[in-house]
Amino acid sequence: MKNSFSRAIHLRDYRAPAWWVDEVELDVSIADDGHAEVAATLSLRRNEAVPAAPLQLDGEALELLALAVDGRALPAPASFVRDGRLELADLPARCRLSTRVRIRPDLNTTLSGFYRSKDGYFTQCEAEGFRRITWFPDRPDVMSRYTVTLHANRERFPDLLANGNRVAEGEEEGGRHWARWVDPFPKPCYLFAMVAAKLDRLDDTFTTASGRTVDLAIYVEPGKLDQCGFAMHALKKSMRWDERRFGLELDLDRYMIVAVGDFNMGAMENKGLNIFNTKYVLARPDIATDVDYMNIDRVVAHEYFHNWTGNRVTCRDWFQLSLKEGLTVFRDQEYGSDEYSRAVQRIQEVRGLRAAQFPEDAGPMAHPIRPASYEEINNFYTATVYEKGAEVVRMIHTLLGEDGFRRGMDLYFERHDGQAVTCDDFVSAMQDASGVDLAQFRRWYEQAGTPRLGARTAFDAATGRWTLTLEQSNPETAYERRLQEEGLRFERGPLHIPVALGLLDAHGREILPTTVLSLTEASGRFEFDLSAHGLKAAPLPSLLRNFSAPVALDYQYGDSDLATLMAHDSDEFNRWEAGQRLATRLMLAGVAQVQAGSEAAVPDLFVDAFAAVLAKADADPAFAAEALTLPSEAWLGDQMTVIDPDAIHRVRTLFRRTLAERLRSQFEALLVRHEVAGAYAPEPAAMGRRALRNLALGYLMTLDDSALQLKALSQFRDADNMTDQFAAFSLLAHSDTPLREVALNEFYARWKDEALVVDKWLAVQATSPLSDARARVRELMVHEAFDLKNPNKVYALVRTFCAANPLHFHAADGSGYAYAAGVIRELDPVNPQVASRVARAFDRWRRFDDGRQAYARRALESIRDLPGLSADVAEVVGRALA
Ligand code: ARG
Ligand code: ZN
Repeated sequence: MKNSFSRAIHLRDYRAPAWWVDEVELDVSIADDGHAEVAATLSLRRNEAVPAAPLQLDGEALELLALAVDGRALPAPASFVRDGRLELADLPARCRLSTRVRIRPDLNTTLSGFYRSKDGYFTQCEAEGFRRITWFPDRPDVMSRYTVTLHANRERFPDLLANGNRVAEGEEEGGRHWARWVDPFPKPCYLFAMVAAKLDRLDDTFTTASGRTVDLAIYVEPGKLDQCGFAMHALKKSMRWDERRFGLELDLDRYMIVAVGDFNMGAMENKGLNIFNTKYVLARPDIATDVDYMNIDRVVAHEYFHNWTGNRVTCRDWFQLSLKEGLTVFRDQEYGSDEYSRAVQRIQEVRGLRAAQFPEDAGPMAHPIRPASYEEINNFYTATVYEKGAEVVRMIHTLLGEDGFRRGMDLYFERHDGQAVTCDDFVSAMQDASGVDLAQFRRWYEQAGTPRLGARTAFDAATGRWTLTLEQSNPETAYERRLQEEGLRFERGPLHIPVALGLLDAHGREILPTTVLSLTEASGRFEFDLSAHGLKAAPLPSLLRNFSAPVALDYQYGDSDLATLMAHDSDEFNRWEAGQRLATRLMLAGVAQVQAGSEAAVPDLFVDAFAAVLAKADADPAFAAEALTLPSEAWLGDQMTVIDPDAIHRVRTLFRRTLAERLRSQFEALLVRHEVAGAYAPEPAAMGRRALRNLALGYLMTLDDSALQLKALSQFRDADNMTDQFAAFSLLAHSDTPLREVALNEFYARWKDEALVVDKWLAVQATSPLSDARARVRELMVHEAFDLKNPNKVYALVRTFCAANPLHFHAADGSGYAYAAGVIRELDPVNPQVASRVARAFDRWRRFDDGRQAYARRALESIRDLPGLSADVAEVVGRALA
């Protein structure tokens, strides 16, 4: 019988490769009819450290034309291919293997390997795309030096790019030309890249700390040169930052970024030739919002930082993905914190973690940051591997301190530069450099699930002794259940959790500054002698400051304690957190009331606490904008045993409207006070003011007041920047008034030629709370603006609807599920990676009532039963149904 895990591969089965590939020579010729021929010569060397074994090469969608060893052709090349692998036995210990294949980039809709986007050709090789270009041991622990020669029509493809430096170029007959590139650094094949296209280029230079001047270039589609200045600025800022903070300098003479409109993910750190989704490169004040600018800044930095954490030191196998991703996300987060407001960055990180990673850990796809098994690696570029991975690195940073962490990084590079290593190697370097024992800490890499951290306190006023008891519980997840079925042994145990604590007195004055406690047992007691403070009442704990660990904290705060923390905690993150906790509690109480058939009400205490934040908003507008944003509908649902999307939506809307009614004049005053004068600039202070102002406008728009609606309309029409225009546009597009159509039509007419702005137009309609949202989304599937083959379009319309419109995706009549399943079935044969990401919208299906579950099950089964279903979607849907 075929068991459902037959495709799984396991970390414990890792074996070092039997063959090394020291040198790769690629000769790629792009024909005029949309195919390409790839001739590869691999210099092979037997790995003497392991028993001799045949050479095994991976290949996918390759038409093998010729095969030779040391120049001698092997007849019937296809006879060496079995189960998608090319296997050669009895090779000499050193030899040169040559292959020639034909590939079809024009037909490659998977956007993995070599593919066409508009008029150019691009690559994406991580994780396993290189095997779609040539026969190769497609695994990250095989590192080689590459020489690449590209040939193509000169007119159509003037830019021929690959990793490293261009060493030669020339003309060929028939209007063709060629270019040869040599990458001086050995690399795993997932970092290979090549481009053949006609592009515009922005040039710049950068002088490194050691005084070398390097060339920088950003390549974009013709006509978009005026949209890449900010990305270049971000690149130079990140280069400087990595020198300052980590002493890491660029090791190349030339660093290139190429932007492409069809791309499965955000961007890719190919050595010296990053390939980016246009979304993370192109910006101009009138087309990109403040959020877009920040994302570009962070993604450019992220890919640049990979040059050390990922490329110089890479992953031994794909189970170690978080080695490079968790660490690099941590680094880009720190960069963001140094560039923008540290507290606001932290708030946004934690909000993101809770929106994506906590539910992942609670659902069918749960896995630790280093999973022990997977079926399709592309399904593991997840919030867990990336964002929780970054949290784990952050905890190491918290335990070691900045200096200890830096010594750990230095030792990591000293030991492992040029190697493909494991997460254990990273933790060992951190431990050895700092002397901090991280033995137990390693469990974070193996154990899935969001730990619950329970806290209890006791105070003896007579002696001034205050006691904190912490308890951790690590509930079993879908991951452990699956491991058991796969026959993999697994032991769970307490984690090493750093808990940052501060104490306030009854007036909100800090009596204990931040102290980091280590909880290493299932429970721990921590005693404090507070007699010196002469407290009459118990102190107020500020627990888990700055979110010192990715856990769910259970502590019985009183409502007024939370109001005190909101107003006074010196830890800004916990000031925000207290507000979120209070709002969550009160809104969930409202949901219970609605479910019981009564109306919810907004308590005065909440309006007052909110008003107090509003009163202090001018001191830090960016922070205030975060603190005044209510917890999302998805977050509220995740706190319920059975999610009730209708009641949640009703209550959250009521809270927003009530706050707007009660605090109307304060919100109106903000609109006036925070008008940003002068030309648009993506600067932190101005960004904060725009965020606060648009938040105020959002509250006011809940009042259904036509004067305010007209105000929004004029902001929409007159704004000189996309941040303000888009804020007003979204509000109008979500309002049940005739202005809605006006805004939708004007926005589209104005921006229909800017693909990234059209994505915003689609996404706004996908998140509409209005009753016709699902019907509209269906209509948009056949609109000229939509294209099933373009990932950005699918993400903007389909994924946004499924992931960010809980009210309508989870409609009680099952229409949202049926729609999603239909799209996934249509998309799977086109682009399995994107289809699989959309399918993740079903992760929460068992959290709903029986009626919804029945519809979701039917939808999932209709996908599961699709003939020829991809491994990507099969894994996600299989786990959901298991
Ligand atoms: N390494 C890239 C980044 O995070 C992501 C590439 C993911 N590719 C994929 N096919 N899943 O910077
Ligand atoms: Zn990355």
